[in-house]
Amino acid sequence: MFLGLDLGTSGLRGLLVSEDGAPVGDCSSAYIVRSPESGWSEQAPEDWLRACGEVLTNLRKIFPTEFSAIKGIGVSGHMHGATALNGEGEPLGPCILWNDGRAWREADELDADPAFRQISGNIVFPGFTAPKLLWMSRHQPEIFSRIDKVVLPKDYINFWLTGSMTTEMSDAAGTSWLDTEQRCWSDQLIENSALRRNQLPELVEGCQPIGSVRKQIAEEFGLPLNVTVVGGAADNAAAACGIGAVSDGLGFVSLGTSGVMLVAKDQFAPAPGTAVHTFCHAIPGKWYQMGVILSATDSLNWLATNHGRELSDLLSELPETSEGPSSVMFFPYLSGERTPHNDANIRGAFVGLSRVSNVSDLCQAVIEGVSFAMNDCYEAIKATGTELSSVMAIGGGSASVYWLQSLSNSLNLPLELPEKGDFGAAMGAARLAMTGVMGVLPEEVMTRPGIVSVIEPQPAKTAAYASAYQRYVKGYSALKEIQ
Ligand code: XUL
Repeated sequence: MFLGLDLGTSGLRGLLVSEDGAPVGDCSSAYIVRSPESGWSEQAPEDWLRACGEVLTNLRKIFPTEFSAIKGIGVSGHMHGATALNGEGEPLGPCILWNDGRAWREADELDADPAFRQISGNIVFPGFTAPKLLWMSRHQPEIFSRIDKVVLPKDYINFWLTGSMTTEMSDAAGTSWLDTEQRCWSDQLIENSALRRNQLPELVEGCQPIGSVRKQIAEEFGLPLNVTVVGGAADNAAAACGIGAVSDGLGFVSLGTSGVMLVAKDQFAPAPGTAVHTFCHAIPGKWYQMGVILSATDSLNWLATNHGRELSDLLSELPETSEGPSSVMFFPYLSGERTPHNDANIRGAFVGLSRVSNVSDLCQAVIEGVSFAMNDCYEAIKATGTELSSVMAIGGGSASVYWLQSLSNSLNLPLELPEKGDFGAAMGAARLAMTGVMGVLPEEVMTRPGIVSVIEPQPAKTAAYASAYQRYVKGYSALKEIQ
């Protein structure tokens, strides 16, 4: 038995997976994101540990036999978060998350140094880790001076589980400190951003064992002794492992808190002149490209919360198929935007409201706005010369057929839906543990699920979506001018 843990933005999920790769059962525990100022986004690492403890306790309660047979654990997590630790391995404050834009000045400053794009293969985005550390050195010098190590969020869980301080390639690639082609830290980039090499953890590959679960944790949660923990992965790389997107051209579109379009690459082929990201995959010798929007389901949750409604309740009011595109348009820039704009300061908008607009219209507009933003990512990826041979739809938002149809019409692309099962980041993390513990090749474990159905673009509607998208594209510069 293997355990995949996924440290998501809204909660931590644990998934038990049997040796033949089948999902056995799961548990989740939620935590919150704090936004003390517009554009800020933080989480308490202590909340992650509480959630992890709760998930382990509940999994043991519900699946006692399977839990006592766990041999390996893999952890995946949201990327880029600056988790600063003191010499005792304790957090020095909240983790500054991937969708936090406060370090935009520092990002611009680092990005102006050509070494960053050249070596890391990416623009230095404000949400990446290096500019956040530079921001801390200027705005929180007391905390900064006490930093012993900086780790990524899921690495803090790995440290808690094993006592080993490591990170792996897929998460390290999102820091702006990695030589993404050579898969090693770049001393030059580290020094150029006010840190020292010994403040970063040791680098491993995602399926490489990093240690065993500490005796104290094993005893507290009833885990067997000598459970191996592997390096794990960044959430998007883990999700790619979960659906078997591990070779050139295979990709997914994910509607989670963030929205992601990812395509696996057999070679390192960076496009640092664009806002397309190029990162190491979680398996050796592979990379991937992706476009990222900062508020996908986050936009819909924002709408639901502000109307005092449950998201499911809001979605249930939508018709089965979309009459769209709507005349109301939404721009999902609640936390700024990454692909294609790299603009931490742009903010969202509804355009085209009238006296007859109701909450259901707003919900439709949000779904369509996020779909158009995903098309921005698709266009950006295509412009680098990359072709996607197949795209699977995953993430919480993909449970809505209405949303998938709007997305397929906006992208003018068929979206494949995996068979019933579990193919998210937690599955990918468990698969990394299986690879490392069973000593098999990643490709043997990271198979593609069967396709249960394909959402095709609706020929009668794609022209209308294409013309609405053209209006959407003009919206960014218009908003920029008035904000
Ligand atoms: C990727 C990114 C997000 C987070 C949260 O660059 O910032 O997708 O990993 O899921």
